[in-house]
Amino acid sequence: MLGSELHRALVEQGEKVSGFDLPGVDVTDRDTVLDLAGQADPEFIFHCAAYTKVDQCETDQDNAYRVNAIGTQNIALAAESLGCPLLYISTDYIFDGTKPEPYDEWDRANPQTIYGKSKYAGEMYVREICQWAYIVRISWLCGKGGANFVDTILKLARERDELKVVNDQHGSPTFVNDLVPELIRMSESGAFGTYHVTNKGFTTWYDFAKKIVEQSGSKARVLPCSSDEHPRPAPRPKNSRMSDRLYDLALGNFMPAWEDGLEDYLKS
Ligand SMILES: NC(=O)c1ccc[n+]([C@@H]2O[C@H](COP(=O)([O-])OP(=O)(O)OC[C@H]3O[C@@H](n4cnc5c(N)ncnc54)[C@H](OP(=O)(O)O)[C@@H]3O)[C@@H](O)[C@H]2O)c1
Repeated sequence: MLGSELHRALVEQGEKVSGFDLPGVDVTDRDTVLDLAGQADPEFIFHCAAYTKVDQCETDQDNAYRVNAIGTQNIALAAESLGCPLLYISTDYIFDGTKPEPYDEWDRANPQTIYGKSKYAGEMYVREICQWAYIVRISWLCGKGGANFVDTILKLARERDELKVVNDQHGSPTFVNDLVPELIRMSESGAFGTYHVTNKGFTTWYDFAKKIVEQSGSKARVLPCSSDEHPRPAPRPKNSRMSDRLYDLALGNFMPAWEDGLEDYLKS
């Protein structure tokens, strides 16, 4: 979802971009990653590849760590060996979701799921290996080319009169179309560090779903329910709200409000 759109945007602005994903390149294969990075000799690496099936990570733990941790270690080693800056995409799942306020960049990570733990291990490798790196934590990613909440709700609203959506998980959507220009701007800034980048404003999945249904013109009713009614193999953080404090101070936060991101997404 993110990598292909980032690739498209970079090409559109005239950059020469080498894009790699499965089955062309397996990030867990260190020799191939080092070899291909050497051949491409990039000025910058964006690392968006990940094992993103959060529930599946719980039962496929070795592969989750292999892709999200070791894959990231390999890319970090490649970047460092070429003296090339790296931007690694991380997640709100590195937090346990128990903080009553939004999480700041310096808050202690305490991931509760294999996905969150493996992504956090990826962060650790980036910090340990790379001299020049950005770690960008995002949440509730929505865009074309992947399973996302907006499309799921639109589909359900066409099929059903009534939808039940959890109202006790708080966070911010991150629309790919808004995120991509910010990642490119960040990559040119030289302000290396860890940042939280999401659309502005907080919501719950229930309020988000209500807005989607409302803006789409559907007549389906959206009803609130609790996470207990929707048990998942990987528990979702109750609080995924992340503060943009350092991102705003270091770079200025130009992300639109999530409602505007949604409006643009639905128009497109
Ligand atoms: N989606 C969200 O809500 C969300 C939230 C927070 C953070 N993030 C992070 O944002 C980033 C982008 O997420 P996304 O939703 O765009 O993910 P996505 O659509 O699932 O794309 C991940 C890509 O990684 C590739 N990949 C998986 N294993 C690989 C391997 N071993 N070697 C090479 N490529 C491999 C996949 O290839 P195949 O398609 O061929 O498997 C796919 O192209 C990830 O770092 C993710 O952890 C996502």
